[in-house]
This record gives sequence, C-alpha cells and structure tokens, in this order.
Amino acid sequence: MKIAILPGDGIGPEVMREALKVLEVVEKKTGKTFEKIFGHIGGEAIDKFGDPLPEETRRICMEADAIFLGSVGGPKWDNLPPEKRPEIGGLLALRKMLNLYANIRPIKVYRSLVSISPLKERVIEAGVDLVTVRELSYGVYYGKPRGIDEEKGFDTMIYDRKTVEYIARTAFEIARNRRKKVTSVDKANVLYSSMLWRKVVSEVAEDYPDVELSHMYVDNAAMQLILRPSQFDVILTTNMFGDILSDESAALPGSLGLLPSASFGDKNLYEPAGGSAPDIAGKNVANPIAQILSLAMMLEFSFGMVDEARKIEKAVEMVIEEGYRTRDIAEDPEKAVSTSQMGDLICKKLEEIW
Ligand code: IPM
Ligand code: MN
Repeated sequence: MKIAILPGDGIGPEVMREALKVLEVVEKKTGKTFEKIFGHIGGEAIDKFGDPLPEETRRICMEADAIFLGSVGGPKWDNLPPEKRPEIGGLLALRKMLNLYANIRPIKVYRSLVSISPLKERVIEAGVDLVTVRELSYGVYYGKPRGIDEEKGFDTMIYDRKTVEYIARTAFEIARNRRKKVTSVDKANVLYSSMLWRKVVSEVAEDYPDVELSHMYVDNAAMQLILRPSQFDVILTTNMFGDILSDESAALPGSLGLLPSASFGDKNLYEPAGGSAPDIAGKNVANPIAQILSLAMMLEFSFGMVDEARKIEKAVEMVIEEGYRTRDIAEDPEKAVSTSQMGDLICKKLEEIW
C-alpha cells in the first residue's frame, strides 16, 4: 500500500501533517503500514525545480496506489504565464495525467454545526446530506482553443458523449447507495455543451429506473442550494459548475474547511476542496478536518478500509459535537483550537472509540 503525499502550498503542509497523524493511529490500531512517498507540487515545486509538476512527482504518482494532496497556489506565483502557474501547470495537469473523470464532494451538516450555519435553523434542520459529483477532466477547464492576448481572453467548453456517459453512470451508481435521487445541473437553455449533457444524462438514466432523475439550470441550482438544500441527494454536474456549487455547498455547514473530496481515475486522488488559503497559512489556525475526511475517503475507496473510514468520520463528528472548533467555525474566536490541537483531539478520540 503505497501513497504519494503532496502537501503543496499555503495551508497544505499544516493540514496534511494532522491527517498523517490520524493515519498513524490507523496504522497502530490495524497493524497495517502504508509506504508514504513525499513529492512536490505547485508553487513550492516551482521554487525548488522551476516546474509546478516535476518529473519526479509524476513518477511518484504513477507508482503509488493512491495520491493524497494538500493544496496548491498563492499570490507569489500569480504573475507567471498561465501554463506555468501552480493551478494550471500543477493541479490541473496532474488531474489530466491521472484521467480523473469524477470528483466526489460530500457534505453533511452535523447537528452541532446547525448554529454555525449561515442559514436559518429550520432550513438546515430539514437535513443536509448531499454529494456533488463533478466532472473533472474536461469542460471549460481544458477545452481548446483557449488563450489570451492584450485584447481578448477566451476558453472553450466542450463535452463529448463518452465523457458525459461516464460521469453520469458514476453519479447514478453513487445515488443507488444513497437516497436514489440525481439532480443533473446544466445550462441547457443557453449552452450547446449543456444540451448534449442533458440528452446523454437522460439516456443513461434509462439504465437506472430505481433512481429518480431531475434536471436543473445552474442559476436555479445555486438558489435552491440555499433555499432548500434538503431536496438534494446527488448533484451531477460539469467541471466549472461543480467547482462553484461545491464551494457553495460547503457554506451550508459553514466552512470550506469541512469539505473533503475523492477523485476517481487511472489512480485515485484525494484532496480537500478548499484552496491553499494563503492569508492564514503558517499560522496554525486552518481547519484540518477536510484533509482528515479526505484521508477517510482514501482508506474507503482505495484500500477497502470501510470500517476504519467510518471510525475517522465518527471521531471527527464527536470532537465537533463536544464543542471544539477551529477559527473558521468558532462562534467565539477566543475559544478556537489550533490546527494541531484539532488534529490531536481527533487522534485521541479515534484511539478511544477504536
Ligand atoms: C478546486 C479548486 C481548483 C479548481 C483550483 C485550485 C484550480 O478550486 O479543487 O475546487 O478550480 O478545481
Ligand atoms: Mn474550487
């Protein structure tokens, strides 16, 4: 069991450290050990090797059973040519290299977080338990032609049948193990790529008569997520709409620091949905929970360690229930715990409940 570990930039290394502590507890309790190979990606890789996705990192990833990533990017590298930036040259290039076709971003609002949610209690209490299934290797993030000069900047949004079919099947399969509802989000009243998307998703749905499919325009979906989030089970959508809606879904419990993700492809990659948060990097205040829950997803989906994953999720939930908060979710910032304290609390809880 070999894991490529890419902490990256900003808060990446700090939250990664806490997730690795949790992994250590899992190793101790199960007697299983993981081989951990560290690699460089993003801005820090540019500083060291002049390349946001160095050859060595590609090799480490190809040799690993799973890839565990922190985050990339920061203002320091924003003025580089687009293809050399941490986001495009690092993360997006890695996603493409691994053919990561589906990005799974689950969000649940714990009872004790209801008071932190920016929404009214009655909206949240109706139950928020949804997962965004975001297409991750095509769409406007990758379509050609794209470019920029002094006068114009342009991108191309393309979807082909095969890509849509694949991601749609993934969403329907996931829905089968949940509440059996798929909401496909597009902009089929305007965009041609969305017209094809809607058509293909409807065709795939015929193979899943037990799953209920509805279509929603993205502008409406953005509104419905806030008005009545309990109506969603699986949100199936494109690369860019999924990027936007998943951040919005993280606002339901109150912080992007709670949103993990798993990406499926030739090799699976696990990363928190939030960014590198350069403004709070290095201060030991970031929320490590998204990274820790991404670890749980890795254990479940790449190593079949379902019980262990559930235990980690349980430990996280219990620590939150007990009232511990990092700054992003604290009602009283004076009482917030640090990144490393939160990691320690979760490790301790995990040992207790094992
Ligand atoms: C995400 C991030 C990335 C994306 C950025 C950092 C390129 O926002 O994983 O959601 O847009 O996909
Ligand atoms: Mn994003």
